This record gives sequence, C-alpha cells and structure tokens, in this order.
Amino acid sequence: GRVILSGIQPTGIPHLGNYLGALSNWVKLQKSAEPEDKLLFSIVGWHALTLPQNPAALLAARNDMLAVLLAIGIDPNRSILFHQDHNPHHTELSWILSCIAPMGKLRRMTTWKSRLAAARNSSSEDEVDESMLNAGLFMYPVLQAADVLVYKATHVPVGDDQQQHIELTRDLADIFNRTFKGTSPLFPLPTYVNTPSKRILSLKDPTSKMSKSSPDVQSRILLTDVASQIQSKIRAAVTDSIQGITYDPQGRPGTSNLLTILAACTDRDVTQVAKAYESQGHGALKRDVAEAVEEFVKGPRAQFNRIRHETTYLEEVARRGATRAIEHSEVTMMEVKTRLGLASAV
Ligand code: TYM
Repeated sequence: GRVILSGIQPTGIPHLGNYLGALSNWVKLQKSAEPEDKLLFSIVGWHALTLPQNPAALLAARNDMLAVLLAIGIDPNRSILFHQDHNPHHTELSWILSCIAPMGKLRRMTTWKSRLAAARNSSSEDEVDESMLNAGLFMYPVLQAADVLVYKATHVPVGDDQQQHIELTRDLADIFNRTFKGTSPLFPLPTYVNTPSKRILSLKDPTSKMSKSSPDVQSRILLTDVASQIQSKIRAAVTDSIQGITYDPQGRPGTSNLLTILAACTDRDVTQVAKAYESQGHGALKRDVAEAVEEFVKGPRAQFNRIRHETTYLEEVARRGATRAIEHSEVTMMEVKTRLGLASAV
C-alpha cells in the first residue's frame, strides 16, 4: 500500500493557493485511497518557529488549522491527523538526517536563498548575511524530510513551491540507504503529487505565488472570506488589457490564474474552461470566478466556524492522532537506531 503524508504550517487561515494547490488534494486522495493505503496529515508547529511567532497567536493558529482540516473533509477515523510537535520522533530523526545532509545541498534550497536575498544588505559577504538568519531556517528542509521519512511515506501531495524540498527528502533517503545498508534499503524514495493548480498566483502581482506573507491582504483569498470579500478581491484582481479570454500563463499570468482558479473550483480542465470564455470579457470571467470560489468554500467555511469552537473534540482528535502517529514512527526509529548503532538489533 501507499503511505501518503503531507503537512501545513499553522501560520494563519489557509488561502486559496493552499486549498487548491494542496489541501483539496489531501481530501481527494483520502477519498480514492485503497483500504491498505495509509494517510497522515500534520500541522507542522516546529516549522512555524523558524519565523518569529506570538505564542498566543501560534496556539490559536494550531487549533484553527486542525479545525480547517476537519472542515474541508479530512476524516480523523480514516487519516492520521496530528500535530507534528506532539511527536518527538520528527526532531529525533531530523538530527540524525542533519548528520548526513550535505551543507551544499541545503544552501541550494530556493527557500533558503530567498531568505538570504531578503536579508542581504549593503554587504556582499555571505557570512554577514547568514548571521542575520537563524539556523532553523537553514535546517527547515531537513526537518521536513524527517516528517516524511519517519513514516516511510511514499507519496507527498504538495504545491509547486515544495517540490525542491521533496527532492531533497529523496536525496537524504538515498544517502541514508547507501550509508547504512541493511538487508534492504530502509527508506522508500518518496514522490511528490501535484494538483493541476499546483501554483496559484497572487491576485495583485501575478508574477509571484499567492502567499500568507504578502503584506497586501487583497492579494489572497482566505478560506474564511465571505462572499462580499471574495467578490471584491476577484474584481480587483490584476489581469491585462487584451480582448477576449485565453489561457496563456506566460503572456497573460493574471487572466490565466483566474482560469486556473475557476477550473479547480468547478473540477474542470483549464483549457476547456478557457474555450468557454474565448469571446467574453474579463468582467464576465471575474463574476463567474467569484461565484465558483464562493460555492467551493461556503461549505468548509460554515463547518470551520462551527468546529473551531469545539475545544474538547479538537483536543481529542489531536490526542488520538498523536498516539497513532507515534505508533508508526516508533517502528521506523527502532530500525534507524539499529542501523546506526544506537540500539541493539531486536
Ligand atoms: P505551507 O504551509 O507553506 O503550505 C501548505 C501547502 O500549500 C501549498 N501552497 C500552494 N499551492 C499552490 N499555490 C500556492 N500559491 C501555494 N502556496 C502554498 C504548499 O506547496 C503546501 O503543499 N514546508 C511545508 C510544510 C511541510 C510539509 C512537510 C509538506 C512541513 N513538512 C512534509 C509536506 C510534507 C510548507 O511550508 O507548506
């Protein structure tokens, strides 16, 4: 069977990029999974610590993220739904992997490079720039690899921006397998699973991805946005002044992004959607996109507003998820330690 694993940071209510690019696929995979497949979905609190967090806000965001995942249809009886920071095996394996992770590979991660670029001041010396960043940011992808490998995951549903991290995960699994040969390779090499809408763009700057960190709140639609907010954000979305609608991600990123969103929300193929709007204007397209997004999010939004206050239920789900997660990772850790010489063979 497959072992499907993914994670999301508890850094606020997810936006449409998270939802269409990754979360909706978690639910799809859960529906289509074979009985022997395992599914694990985690809220990665330790990853969130790489950026400054307000403790009270983080606590609330962890709770809200659990409520969101339940609201969109993750079934805690089918999938293992848990907080990463409830399972110390992740950090334990992360340390072990860091001891075989080549520094050069970590330096080439685009997430690290963009942090470095942002920290770059007048000085051109890398060391000066690096000293402004915390080591957690550098180690981030190693912890992510541990999240995946500690359950021997085979499939990782993520958006486009996480692809490089999964490639590193494969590299680290391969290095471990070759360094600590047993009778058979310990870790399967995981593959990432993308959705057709693996990269949803900012509504205000369609040359960059929709992101939680953009200071412009108009650039993203949150899962909790109501119809009027969705309408005004879509209406104000940056497009182009070309007549008619065509799908051309290179030449017309803003227009194409709206088509991608419409296709994803109505479960259609983007070229088919584009064809239907060939002779229409941006006004008609935007009206239909806003309507489709509202249709798509209204169910989960209502569920979320209900579940987020069910504290006892949420605590129970988290507790049970952690227990089940640990049952799986404990087996892997025993095997890892045996190969390393940290435990005697059983
Ligand atoms: P995070 O929390 O930034 O995002 C969660 C998921 O949303 C996807 N995503 C997008 N997809 C399409 N368009 C966008 N504009 C967009 N923005 C975000 C992300 O690709 C991701 O799938 N490092 C991860 C969390 C993580 C993880 C893991 C994932 C930690 N450990 C193990 C998989 C497996 C992250 O920061 O995702």
